[in-house]
Amino acid sequence: MFYIFPTPQTIAEHLSGVLLQKIQSNPKSVLGLATGSTMEPIYAAFINQAKSSGLNLSEITTFNLDEYIGLAPEHPQSYYHFMQTHFFRPAGICTSQVSLPSGMCNNIEEECLQYSQKIQNAGGLDIQLLGIGTNGHIGFNEPGTPFSSVTHVVELSENTRRDNGRFFEDKNQVPTKAITMGIKEIMSAKEVVLVATGSHKAEVMAHLYTTGIDEQMPASILKEHRQIKIFIDEAAASLLPMEAKLAI
Ligand code: GLP
Repeated sequence: MFYIFPTPQTIAEHLSGVLLQKIQSNPKSVLGLATGSTMEPIYAAFINQAKSSGLNLSEITTFNLDEYIGLAPEHPQSYYHFMQTHFFRPAGICTSQVSLPSGMCNNIEEECLQYSQKIQNAGGLDIQLLGIGTNGHIGFNEPGTPFSSVTHVVELSENTRRDNGRFFEDKNQVPTKAITMGIKEIMSAKEVVLVATGSHKAEVMAHLYTTGIDEQMPASILKEHRQIKIFIDEAAASLLPMEAKLAI
C-alpha cells in the first residue's frame, strides 16, 4: 500500500508511466484528477512522456475532484485554471473531454447531483489521483465528512484555508466554501493513487500509517480500497515508524 520513492520527481516519472500504460491499453480511460502543488511534477512528466510516445489522448474523459465556490474558471486560483495551465492545454486535451464541478452556478445542490450523475454516466472512474491535506482531507472532504458522502458543498476548515492561502495574494481571499466529489465516489474508482511529498506532509502520513479507519482522518478509508497505492517521497516518509520503513 505505501511505496517510498527518493524524490517527488521519481514519483512523477513512475506514476506518469502508470497513466500512460493505462491509456494505451484503454484509450477511453476515465481519469479522476486532482489539483495542488503535489500534482504539478506528475502532470509535467506525463505530458513529456505522452508527447514523446505519441499517446492518443483524444478519447479520454477526465473528472476533477473539486472547485472553490465563488471563483470563476478564469480566476488564476480556480482549479479549472490550474488544470488548464498544468495539464489540459499543454497536453492538448479539449474542454469537451474534461469536467470540473462549477463553483459559479446558481443552483449548487443541483450542480452536485448532476456532477455525481455525470461520473456514473461515464461508467465511473478508472483511476483517481489524490493529494492529501495536512489535516488528512482528500478532495475537499474535511475531517468528519461521512464516508458515505457523494458530491457536496463543504465549509473549508481554517487549517485548509491557511494551507491554501499560499497561492493567494491575500489569505483572506481564500474562499470559505468549495464543492467536492464525495468519499463514496472516490472509493468507487477502480484504482486510487494518493501522493504525498515534502516534510510538511510527514506528520499526516505518520498519522495515516498508524490510524484505524476514522472519519476524523478522511484518507484512512482508502485502507479499505482494493486497489490503493500510496506514493510518498522520503521527506514525507520521515516520521513513519522505523518498522514501517523496513516493512515497506
Ligand atoms: C487542496 C485540494 C486537495 C489537495 C490538497 C493538497 O486542498 N483540494 O485535493 O490534495 O490541496 O495540496 P498540495 O498538493 O498543494 O499540498
